[in-house]
Amino acid sequence: MDLMGLLLRVGLFSATCACSYGLLTTSEVPQEVIECIQRIVNVTDGRLSNKLVEEAHLQCIQTFFWKFNGIHWSATNITEDDKAYINSLMRLHVRRGRQKRQVGQEIVLPLTGFRTRKEYRILTDEERNTYHAAVNELKRVGRYDIFANIHQGTNIDSAHGGPNFLGWHRIYLALYEEALREVNGTVALPFWDSRLDFHMADPVDSIIWTAAFLGNGDGFVRTGPFANWNTPTGRLARNIGRFSTLMSAPVVDDILTRCQMSEISEPTAVARYNLEFHHGGPHVWVGGQMRGLDTAAHEPVFFMHHAFVDYVWELFRIRQATVCRIDPGTDYPSSATGLHAPNRAMDGLPQFRNIDGIANYWTEFWYNYEDTPICSPRQQSCGSPYLRCDVRIWRCISESRVGPRVFATDITTTYVANRGLTEEQAHALMADEEASSVIEGAMFRGPTADPRNH
Ligand SMILES: *[C@@H]1O[C@H](CO)[C@@H](O)[C@H](O)[C@H]1NC(C)=O
Ligand SMILES: *[C@@H]1O[C@H](CO)[C@@H](O)[C@H](O)[C@H]1NC(C)=O
Ligand SMILES: *[C@@H]1O[C@H](CO)[C@@H](O)[C@H](O)[C@H]1NC(C)=O
Repeated sequence: MDLMGLLLRVGLFSATCACSYGLLTTSEVPQEVIECIQRIVNVTDGRLSNKLVEEAHLQCIQTFFWKFNGIHWSATNITEDDKAYINSLMRLHVRRGRQKRQVGQEIVLPLTGFRTRKEYRILTDEERNTYHAAVNELKRVGRYDIFANIHQGTNIDSAHGGPNFLGWHRIYLALYEEALREVNGTVALPFWDSRLDFHMADPVDSIIWTAAFLGNGDGFVRTGPFANWNTPTGRLARNIGRFSTLMSAPVVDDILTRCQMSEISEPTAVARYNLEFHHGGPHVWVGGQMRGLDTAAHEPVFFMHHAFVDYVWELFRIRQATVCRIDPGTDYPSSATGLHAPNRAMDGLPQFRNIDGIANYWTEFWYNYEDTPICSPRQQSCGSPYLRCDVRIWRCISESRVGPRVFATDITTTYVANRGLTEEQAHALMADEEASSVIEGAMFRGPTADPRNH
């Protein structure tokens, strides 16, 4: 099929497209979009199923508009002091190798030592509370916001939309975790495996949206460890389950069938295997600050979601080494140029080159993962009072929360009285308004909405 035919099939010239995106007219399909589709045609050898055509459309057009809208908000500058603090977290401990193969060699370790990351619900209540307290201590002394502000402005361009996405976030998370461990050395960054919620009857019912975990997910965060947090765009807010989707087990399984980093990274991956694209789902699903590129890291869930993305990448890397016989530490896509070029200094983390993010060093000497809980007919426990085994699909899923939503009753009453809404409708509207008032700048894009969304 020729390119023109393909553009017609993906609807770039159709009225619906011009209408839904507002800006495109038939005479000006951007060169970037044409090249993006051409690249997918090349990769698939021109044999595109209808499903792939849809994916190509989604991926190319959304990437374009995402960049187009990317006029970056830079209300908060990173100061020299902030940079010095981040650099101080890279202080390393040098140890001479003891094992035979390391005789005479020195290995450098993070000052607070090696750590193991676990799924959030696998932590004991004490571990979870210690983690929450460490995050709050960083927030109190202003260091949380320094981290969050690094994920902003020009840094966003080179940390997204290309193969540097995974490595940049890996180092960013490792340093954030180092900061938490300066507060309490027993803490490791937990990961939020959103598959455990996706496979519930309705993920918004997950126990993680309660005061003992992350606090409420509807509107301003009023309960839990991050209640009433302030951010540069106002009070922390969420709007869980309204748009896009969490990551499902089939999505992760698909990604784990690939062998090369270029197959799962922008701009070369097709949507189905594109880890960066699927990672946008939970950003959009959580809503509020989490949905905006410049605001997301002000939501502490950001770091736990990214730890899960990093975990999926680590499973991919292990498979690269064992099944695909590819060294994951050197598989940086050779086609990457510009901001994503392998030897370019990392923005915001300039002591590293982009390619350093994929080095085997990080999961060899800094941290590793305890596997996410699974269950089977022979092993029916999920190892946590907050998870249970769904024996119809043999998957661990989250326990549900109980109880009503948590809006202040006086506000609800006003909404019900003034607008003639039911209490349920009033709550949904309030959450929408609160959560959309806190985003500035470009938003994450994610896969199409989960049919369960309401
Ligand atoms: C697609 O393949 C053609 C022929 O090999 C090549 O000239 C072109 O540069 C490729 N386009 C992209 C965007 O990769
Ligand atoms: C950020 O820094 C730039 C360059 O130093 C300066 O022009 C700008 O006014 C600063 N913005 C804020 C909000 O401080
Ligand atoms: C770190 O957390 C553990 C577990 O809650 C606690 O026993 C210990 O006292 C804490 N250490 C510091 C320095 O706060």
